[in-house]
Amino acid sequence: MSSKRIISMIEAHARTLMLTLAMLIAVFAAAPARAQGPSDVLWVAPERASHRANPVLPTTDVLKKGHDLFHRDCEQCHGKAGHGDGPQSFSLEKHPADLSSDRVQSQPDGAFFWKMTEGRGVMPKATLGENEKWSVIVYIRTFSTKH
Ligand code: HEC
Repeated sequence: MSSKRIISMIEAHARTLMLTLAMLIAVFAAAPARAQGPSDVLWVAPERASHRANPVLPTTDVLKKGHDLFHRDCEQCHGKAGHGDGPQSFSLEKHPADLSSDRVQSQPDGAFFWKMTEGRGVMPKATLGENEKWSVIVYIRTFSTKH
């Protein structure tokens, strides 16, 4: 093998090494930025979305439907009584909100609807129909008295 060939091989390896290093530095530099991402900021729904009124009335049927959907799609994170202590909550990078708290209960139905529709971070977008979402919200209101 000629010395020229050997030098060019060493150069190629050095380039790969430098690229790998640069990538590693980029990943580590980006990590703190991710940790302080939008999920650390208080989650506020836009004013217009918050004003949307709940078209669903709190009948026994609606409460039952809301309960069943909450149990199926939300309870694993938010917990049976909405305290944010569902079985999956402990393995999440962000703790699920306590839906029974004053901070959450003081928000209008429209804000819940918007947050369920949008999702954020580990909180998934709800895969529910409009009526289903409003029914879950009617059910979530019962948490304010469940201590
Ligand atoms: C995989 C876990 C998970 C599931 C499933 C989940 N959530 Fe959440 N939820 C979260 C987390 C985590 C947050 C906090 C998100 C944030 O602030 O960035 C949150 C926040 C919320 C909020 C906003 C509370 C606030 O801070 O104002 C509402 C409302 C909510 N969830 C309702 C629901 C409903 C209703 C369902 C079911 C349709 C549901 N969530 C399913 C994890 C989950």
